[in-house]
Amino acid sequence: MHFTNLLIPALAAVFAGSASAQATPDGFAPAVNTTLDVYYGTTYISPGLLVKKSSVSKLPAIGLTGKNLTGKYLLAMIDIDAPSNNGGPRGTVLHALLTDFTPSGATQNGTALLTTKATGPASYFGPAPPAETPKHPHNYVFLLHEQPANFAVPQAHKQTVQSRFGIDWVKFIVDAKLTEPVAGNYLRVQSGDNTRRWVEW
Ligand SMILES: *[C@@H]1O[C@H](CO)[C@@H](O)[C@H](O)[C@H]1NC(C)=O
Ligand SMILES: *[C@@H]1O[C@H](CO)[C@@H](O)[C@H](O)[C@H]1NC(C)=O
Ligand SMILES: *[C@@H]1O[C@H](CO)[C@@H](O)[C@H](O)[C@H]1NC(C)=O
Repeated sequence: MHFTNLLIPALAAVFAGSASAQATPDGFAPAVNTTLDVYYGTTYISPGLLVKKSSVSKLPAIGLTGKNLTGKYLLAMIDIDAPSNNGGPRGTVLHALLTDFTPSGATQNGTALLTTKATGPASYFGPAPPAETPKHPHNYVFLLHEQPANFAVPQAHKQTVQSRFGIDWVKFIVDAKLTEPVAGNYLRVQSGDNTRRWVEW
């Protein structure tokens, strides 16, 4: 009796703590603790949320809570669970690399929103993980960085950004002289999700 009364609040505190501490998947580098607010329409993405493919087909609204934003930011979205076609380790697919985000002045649910007119260097490409047996949900990681003046995709990454396959974000950060991410987040989509936009759920 005593034990359960003491343990439940203690465990709840541990889980609440771990949920808020990390906004990127376990083991992913760079690890980020500040959550990037991501909204697909009215759906708020809490880190790790499993969503339908059909609900994430368009670029989400992004922003930060409780920060005064200035300057320009760039956003990367990376699938870190792309199956290899020869049975090797899973690789990465770049789903977006968008520059020139600036504060829009608008808020959503307390989030100071960022907007961009840029559609590159890599336009938003919605998740579409192929079917696998057994099923394997893919993790799609969002990373927001301050954008250095005169930012350009480094030569060593141009091919990868164009093909979208095999992006190495840790190396990209070094080569493009980025600082640590300002914020991050991730969502998950089940492999083989074939939902269509018109399906109600
Ligand atoms: C994130 O939070 C954890 C736990 O508080 C801490 O150990 C880690 O250094 C933090 N990481 C970053 C990048 O701030
Ligand atoms: C508003 O943001 C909080 C996190 O800051 C989130 O938990 C909540 O689901 C969001 N609500 C809506 C309606 O977007
Ligand atoms: C944002 O800036 C305003 C005006 O300078 C200040 O009053 C406020 O405390 C700042 N908010 C944060 C979260 O830094």
